[in-house]
Parts: sequence; structure tokens; C-alpha cells
Amino acid sequence: SARKPLIAGNWKMFKTVPEAVAFAQELKTAVAGVDGVEIAVCPPFTALVPVAEALRGTGIAVGAQDVHWEESGAFTGEVSPLMLKDAGCSYVIIGHSERRQLFGETDEKVNRKVRAALAHGLTPIMCVGETLEEREAGVTEEVVRRQAESGLAGLTPEQAGGLVIAYEPVWAIGTGKTASEQDAQQMIGFIRGLVRDLYGAGAAGAMRIQYGGSVKPENAAGLMAQPDIDGALVGGASLEVKSFVEIIKAAC
Ligand code: G3H
Repeated sequence: SARKPLIAGNWKMFKTVPEAVAFAQELKTAVAGVDGVEIAVCPPFTALVPVAEALRGTGIAVGAQDVHWEESGAFTGEVSPLMLKDAGCSYVIIGHSERRQLFGETDEKVNRKVRAALAHGLTPIMCVGETLEEREAGVTEEVVRRQAESGLAGLTPEQAGGLVIAYEPVWAIGTGKTASEQDAQQMIGFIRGLVRDLYGAGAAGAMRIQYGGSVKPENAAGLMAQPDIDGALVGGASLEVKSFVEIIKAAC
């Protein structure tokens, strides 16, 4: 397709500043000359600035793992979209299942964050995906439709086309269980169809939709070969340069 895949590493709550900078420097060398895929790393907040500095001029993008929707104010513990831009971020993960399950993130908060990020020139990587209970109850499409429709509410077609959705079935995250290529393609095709209904063919054709959940060097190529899968949001396997680079190369 015309869409350039995005391989993004979500480091979650891992890596000190020295570890993060060493990783960035190694990654820079390891992917020099790699073409046809966009790369992003999403360190914890504390490492955003040093990682962005280490990667400046390389084309490797930096993303945050969450954001607040206000620009500034009395919101102890929160970080604003303006601050993330200022720190050197171009992406921000929003609505990761860990935030939804452990930190009370609702569809409404996800939507506020998506709109605020876009207003400040950050590209959201908005996460959707069903739990095991929901899959077993046969409500996967219903859940993903609700998350996608609420998360994207109020956007222009241009904004919708420019953002990234990560489809991450919760039962596949950190479990070693990957969705089959067919299941991942089926759900991601379903999401693209939703975007078409909501925002038209232009937005649906432009939007990058990633798969996430136990993506490893061994299964990356098969997933990335699916017509609607435009890259991956990688957790565990993004913490080592070697496995992350193998996944990046599988997407080229
Ligand atoms: O954001 C990344 C996902 O939660 C996937 O994590 O690759 O460790 O399963 P994982």
C-alpha cells in the first residue's frame, strides 16, 4: 500500500536515563540505511529529552506513553501536549490497555487526549482492543467499534487520516500469545471499514493501523505482510536493540 508502516517501541516502565540513551545510540547505528519503514521509540517521561537529543537528525521519532488534555494548570503529576512537543516528541500513545485497565482511562478521556494531542501537532497512537472475556463472549467487534468511534469523535477527516490506531487484543499483550495473521488482518480491516464509514475513503486509506501484542522477530514478517496491517506497537521485544531491529527489518 501507499502507507509507510510504523514500528513503534513502547518501553512501558522500563529503562533509566543512561540505559535509554545507550539504547538510542545503538539503535541509530543499527538502522542506518534502513528504508521504507518509520521507526519510533516511546520511553518513559524521564528519558524523553535525552532520547530525543540522542536521536536528533536520525529520522527515528520519539513518542510519549500518555498525555493530559490540558495545556497547563494545577494537574499534579500530569504532562501536557505542549510539554511533550517541547521535549521532542512527535507521537503519543493514548488509551493503552494498561491505562484503561489499571488507571481508569475511559473512552471519553481517550478522546479528549486524542483531540488535545492533535491540536498541538502530536500524532496519537490510539490503542483499541478486546479482553479475553470479551472475545469469548463474542463481543470483540462491538467493543472495538465503541473504542474507535468514541476515541475518534469530533475529528476532521484529515485529522483522522493522520493518526495511528494500534489494535492490541488485551489477551495477546505480554502473554506470548499473538493473534493469528488472519485474525489480526480481519480486525484491522474491520477498523479500517469503521474509519471509512465515519470519515470517508480518503481518511481510511491514509490511516496507519498497527497490530500489537507479543510481536516478536519470529512472527513480525507474517503479520506485516497482511494488506491492512501498517506496522506494530511492540512492547517486550522493543527493549533489546537486536529484537527491535529484526522487527523493523521485517516491516520493510
Ligand atoms: O504497547 C505494546 C503492547 O502492549 C504489546 O506488548 O509486545 O510486550 O506484548 P508486548
